[in-house]
Amino acid sequence: MWTQVALFVLITTLTVCHIHAQSVCGFPPTIWRNANRTCPARAVCGDVFTTRRDWMNGTTCAETRVINNCFCPGNLACPVNNDAHRLYTTAQQKIYTCEPVCNLGWCYNIRLGLSEGRSDPTIAMTVEEQTPDFGGNTFTRMGCRCPRHHVPNRQPPGVPRAVKTHSYIRNPTTRHYTARYTCKVSGTEGNMVDPCPRHVPVK
Ligand SMILES: *[C@@H]1O[C@H](CO)[C@@H](O)[C@H](O)[C@H]1NC(C)=O
Ligand SMILES: *[C@@H]1O[C@H](CO)[C@@H](O)[C@H](O)[C@H]1NC(C)=O
Repeated sequence: MWTQVALFVLITTLTVCHIHAQSVCGFPPTIWRNANRTCPARAVCGDVFTTRRDWMNGTTCAETRVINNCFCPGNLACPVNNDAHRLYTTAQQKIYTCEPVCNLGWCYNIRLGLSEGRSDPTIAMTVEEQTPDFGGNTFTRMGCRCPRHHVPNRQPPGVPRAVKTHSYIRNPTTRHYTARYTCKVSGTEGNMVDPCPRHVPVK
């Protein structure tokens, strides 16, 4: 008898917690940025952040937040549900481009860069601030794919991004500010094989 009551209480509690978990987090409203402007070439059109939210009251739940930075040509929303357009930048953040990611070239990492006679690694990503033909807003443009960009949870603890800062350029006339990033490659990652079927040159 008491065992049955206890079991009933337990099941009820679990059910209530489950409902809480679903109702509290999940998918917060999608954010639309930059007045839905059309993306410049190879811009990051969408960011998807997946986190665990702890309300510090016994409720913890997964939360997925979708941010649309710009619309793809043809007035299409960023393909945030299409894996062919997805790159990983951190354990929590996925980014999407209007172009299929295999259309981006494979970045020459440091090892390849030297072997191909390049003195400088290719720029994987640039952040263009106050861009005149993007309504004076900021966007992120992909130059090529890094080895870690394809693999979820590839960032080791304490290593927050797939890329590292290369340089900053500031145009004093336009006040246009550009941050440039190269691939972050460590250990044998430089030997990781490009998972895309073929190399497509960076345009
Ligand atoms: C941007 O597009 C979304 C989806 O179509 C729409 O809900 C939102 O109102 C638009 N925002 C602006 C500023 O036009
Ligand atoms: C914890 O806090 C959140 C936000 O206020 C609330 O929605 C949720 O119901 C709370 N959970 C519990 C178990 O009290």
